[in-house]
Amino acid sequence: MVAEVIDGKAFAAKVRAQVADQVAKLKEQSGITPGLAVVLVGEDPASQVYVRSKGKQTVEVGMNSYEHKLDAETSEEDLLALIDKLNNDPAVHGILVQLPLPKHLNEDLVINSIDPAKDVDGFHISNVGLLGTGQKSMVPCTPLGCLMMLRDYHGSLSGMDAVVIGRSNIVGKPMAQLLLGDSCTVTIAHSRTKDLPDVVRRADIVVAAVGRPEMVPGDWIKEGATVIDVGINRIERDGKNKLVGDVDYASAAERAGAITPVPGGVGPMTIACLLANTLTACCRANSLPEPEGLTV
Ligand code: GUN
Repeated sequence: MVAEVIDGKAFAAKVRAQVADQVAKLKEQSGITPGLAVVLVGEDPASQVYVRSKGKQTVEVGMNSYEHKLDAETSEEDLLALIDKLNNDPAVHGILVQLPLPKHLNEDLVINSIDPAKDVDGFHISNVGLLGTGQKSMVPCTPLGCLMMLRDYHGSLSGMDAVVIGRSNIVGKPMAQLLLGDSCTVTIAHSRTKDLPDVVRRADIVVAAVGRPEMVPGDWIKEGATVIDVGINRIERDGKNKLVGDVDYASAAERAGAITPVPGGVGPMTIACLLANTLTACCRANSLPEPEGLTV
């Protein structure tokens, strides 16, 4: 079997176009412009690239972007004061604090100080609890993007066996909750899982989110399974820098029914879902109907 390629880049462009269309309608009908504040502490090069990209795409869909760059030595008190200001600013509908934070800052404390209604990352404990109990929440962007692609490809996921490899708070755990919400039978596998190859071989859906280059070989993949590769790993091969996923793409594509490539799979969906979440937060804040097809 040669896998169908799930084109995340094209899908993300479609999501952004939907967001832009609905933002334009919102401005026209109610005069409201959704606003996203992104906070970056320090100079982590990868974070700087992500934040620049988020700001650019926010403006491209017609929303307001507010960037707050703080130096690496910023105190917790100053960061919490900025979050408090953003929580109380009616022009700001979404707040994202780029992770990781410098070591002297307590990440949990900082995330949980964001107003849950503005927590477009879906990392606040209230949103985690709401998602876990099947209530309306803000859904973490990367798992939301994965779910959108799976629903688009399969229609219903009901009854499918899904394995999520990785148990992070950002991807693995919320991904498992979303798949459970869509009536999959879900296994969360991790570094201590026994017989990982056999666990993966039983899955109709494999979501790999461990951050280890090409750790899932093709012969772990059930014939016809759908593979969602969340990994974005920089490696050097043949003297060149290359981006690879957590799945060995070449061998997995020979067995899977469908697979996301790296780059051009899950990656572009993450920012598209951040924009969708900001629009959703703005609609909820103004008691307006939620955008269709952009939330779970
Ligand atoms: N760092 C890496 N991924 C993410 C993300 O999805 N949100 C935030 N806030 N920081 C990140």
